[in-house]
Formats: sequence, C-alpha cells, structure tokens
Amino acid sequence: MRTHLAFGLLIGLSYGAVAQQPAIDSSKYLPLTTWTTAQDHADMMQQLGIRALRPGPSGNEADPNHANYDEAKADPCPQLPDVLTTRNGKKVTTPDQWWKQRRPELIDDFEREMYGKVPAHTPKVDWTVNVTDNEFVGRIPVIAKQLTGRVDNSTYPLIRVNINMVLVLPQNVKGPVPVMMMLGFPALPAPAQPSLADLEKLNAAFKELMIKSDPTLKAIFDRYPAYSPITRLPGPNFFAPPPTGDSSPTEQLLAAGWGYCTIEPSSIQADNGAGLTRGIIGLVNKGQPRKPGDWGALRAWAWGASRALDYLETEPQVNARQVGVEGVSRYGKAALVAMAFDQRFALGLIGSSGKGGTTLQRRVFGEAVESLANSGEYHWMAGNYLKYATAESSFGSRSGCDLPVDSHELLALCAPRPTFVSYGIPEKGDAKWLDQTGSYKATVAAGPVFTLLGARGLGVSSDYNTERMPEVQTGLLTGELAWRQHTGGHTDAPNFQYVIPWASKRLRYERVAR
Ligand code: GCU
Repeated sequence: MRTHLAFGLLIGLSYGAVAQQPAIDSSKYLPLTTWTTAQDHADMMQQLGIRALRPGPSGNEADPNHANYDEAKADPCPQLPDVLTTRNGKKVTTPDQWWKQRRPELIDDFEREMYGKVPAHTPKVDWTVNVTDNEFVGRIPVIAKQLTGRVDNSTYPLIRVNINMVLVLPQNVKGPVPVMMMLGFPALPAPAQPSLADLEKLNAAFKELMIKSDPTLKAIFDRYPAYSPITRLPGPNFFAPPPTGDSSPTEQLLAAGWGYCTIEPSSIQADNGAGLTRGIIGLVNKGQPRKPGDWGALRAWAWGASRALDYLETEPQVNARQVGVEGVSRYGKAALVAMAFDQRFALGLIGSSGKGGTTLQRRVFGEAVESLANSGEYHWMAGNYLKYATAESSFGSRSGCDLPVDSHELLALCAPRPTFVSYGIPEKGDAKWLDQTGSYKATVAAGPVFTLLGARGLGVSSDYNTERMPEVQTGLLTGELAWRQHTGGHTDAPNFQYVIPWASKRLRYERVAR
C-alpha cells in the first residue's frame, strides 16, 4: 500500500458518500441462492445422476493416497484423440477443413464436457476510467489507468459485477503499442504523489477536518506545530538496480515498448463453488444454480478477459490486434481458455497451468481429473466434467480416458497464433503435481495443427510418446508454438526475457522511440 493511512481515510470518506445506491425491491426477482460449496457440488452430482465420485489423490507424497509420480503408470491410455481426424473418421488435410469442420467440433466438445458454454446472451459491459495517472515505472514514463467494467445487471439487480482492471502504457514510444493482458491483481504501479505545495494544502484541510470532528485534537496539533499528518512516500528509486536478478516482467514489457494491463479474475467470478450463484455466472442465471453444461469459472474469467479486450479496442494508443493474454497456474488455465476461444487474442503466455490447462487430462501424474472434479476446484469446470471422475452413477463409471478431447486440442485451438508454454522446476516450487511432462506431450501433439495452418511448431516431431522434454533452460523458441522451462518456481517471470523478444518478433513489432 503506497497511500498514507490518513490520506486513505480521507478518500474512503468521500467515496463512501458517492457509493449510495437506490434500494432494490428484491421481491420482484427470483430469490438469490445462497449455498455452500459442498451443497452446490452435491446438487451438480444429483443433476448428473452421480452417486459417488472417486476422491482426488493427495498432493503430499508422504500420504498413503498420494498422487502417482511413477512415469511407468502415468499413461493408462497413451493414444490421444487425433487432433486432425474428424468425428466421422476423416483426416483433416487442409486449413479449410480445420476452420470449417474440425475446429468447431473441438470447440463443441470442450464447451460441453469441460469448460462449459458462454450463454448466448451475456450482458453488456460499460468501462469507465476512474483514475488516469502519469507515473514512472523504473525510469519509464507511463500513463496508468484504473478502470471498472460495470456489467449491466438490469435483468437481475441483486447481483453486481464490476470488473477491475489497470492499464499501463509507455509514454516514451510511438503507439499504438502491443499489450500483454495479465490475469492477476491489478494495482497502479507507482501512483504519482502531490507536490510539496499541494501537500501543504492537503495537510491544512485535513487538520481542519480532524479538529472539526474532534475539537480536543487541536491541543495535539498545537503541541507539534511542524507536524504534518500526511507525508510523502519516497519516490521511485531511479538509479538502484532491482534487488535480485531481472527487473519485473511488467518493467521488461514497458522497456520493450509494450503496454500491459492486469485484470482481476475474482471481480468477474469468485474462485469457489459457493460463488457460482453470484458473479457473471450467477448474474446470467439470475441467482440460480448451474446446469451441467453451464460455464465454469475458467470460462467466465476468459469471458472477462474478452470484455477487457473490447475496451482495449477503443484505446487509440493500443494496437488491439497485438494483445496477448497471460496467466500462471489457475490463471494460466484461464489464459489458455481465453486464447483458445477468442481468436482476437494475438498471443498467449501460459504459465505453469497444469491440469485443466496444458497438461494432458488422460495422464495420471500429480494432479488428477479427480482432483478437479471432486474438490474445491470443480467450479473451474463445467458440471459435466464431474462425470469423468465417476465411480458409481446411472451411466456407470468413467475416467479421464473417456474424455472426447484433451489439452493438445485446446492448444491446437490457439493455432496459428503464437503460444508459449512456460514452466518452472519442482525443486523451486513448480511442483511435480503440475506434470510438466504431460504438458510437453500436449504441446508436441498440438504441433501438426500449427504446421497445417502455415505456422511453425516446436521444431520436433509430432510423436508425443517418444519426444523427450528438453533440458531445463533449453527453450524451443523458433516457432509460433514455444516451450521453455526456467529454473524458478511457480511463476512465469523468469521466462519473460525470452517471451518478449519471441513475441515481438512473431508480431513483427519494433519499438520506436518517441
Ligand atoms: C492448486 C491446484 C492447481 C492450480 C494451483 C494454483 O495446486 O491443484 O490446479 O493450478 O492450485 O492455481 O496455484
């Protein structure tokens, strides 16, 4: 927090006064469902006719029921569904067949069985710029904007969804610039602070306000006549190098002439099952629980990313045809879903995304289908996904091997747009749980679609069962599909110095100073 406490209080007071909303007559609307995560999960099982799900394995290797980490047992069904064979068994040999038949088939399967469908009618989002600030990030002058995307809730005012975003654009380059959209925690990078003269005025007004609310404070101020309750924070340090290693990913982006924006997924949809009757999913369902084919949080977050891209399309300093989408872990899964379904995203950086992201669903190594279907993570997926962890039900039992599609096909939906798959190493905290090998196999298996569409894959064969994952720090960076495992932990930051030149080259972007 960079705002001085007292100053924050002042802002809080004035915001509070504006935020008054007219009361809503809730009797006019379907009642809002308030369930626990467990109740919502049980309801979905019942809707699907499932009596019992297999439990997810433990992530702790000391536990008797720990996840499998034996490569010899990791591939119960090693043959993946062929990405270039249609449902009726025809081989896809032309881009036209891919776009017209195979891609729509895959989208249909992913929507129905895994991530859910975006409803036919989603409400409009109106973006407002709350703050526009001239700031410095390192030595780079930027324009930073804090924005809110208000989702139209006139059909169900009991739920309010306000998407939170910060956009930061370099001022020292000629625009329009490419932008990396990051899923995470938006914050203005270095809010500009008042000049000394302005600060003096603020202090005078603030002292007056305090004395008005409590006259005994006057004696205190009189005792310390030179004291100012609002002080300035130290400014950005222009000359000190970053404390360790590389500068931050955002600073690297700005230095390369890119802008970035950060959106907050949980302002679109809560990261838990109890929240499924709220957020954008709950708003469209008018506060009622999901049906099995309805979207999960990953798809909802990706929808929000698309709405943020709508806004970027209206920014003259942004080249909206050069917007990438980035995320790590659960947000890496969401970034991949955004990239796969919305072709306006020009590029994807998919960090440590694991199961539900780039890792093969069929693999039994680390996190399992059962973990996603039968734990506090099921809300990421459509309800139908639960079927693949079923032990007992009206339709028998099913496993990940029964999924009609797998993650190599999700990566293929990104083709031919540049897609970078990033991981760290287990020793530093990018746990084996994420199954780096399974992700590598999926990336290899997605290659033929990139080639078919005139792009380049990893530069290896498409034989996912024999290709070996490259050594750590050996990037496969010559194609539109790229892979690199860095020596850090559960983050993609150490890969940015490779991602940025790779991305700029693929987008044919060159920074031009202004
Ligand atoms: C858990 C979860 C992963 C997820 C990760 C995260 O480890 O099992 O699927 O990627 O949390 O988002 O940090």
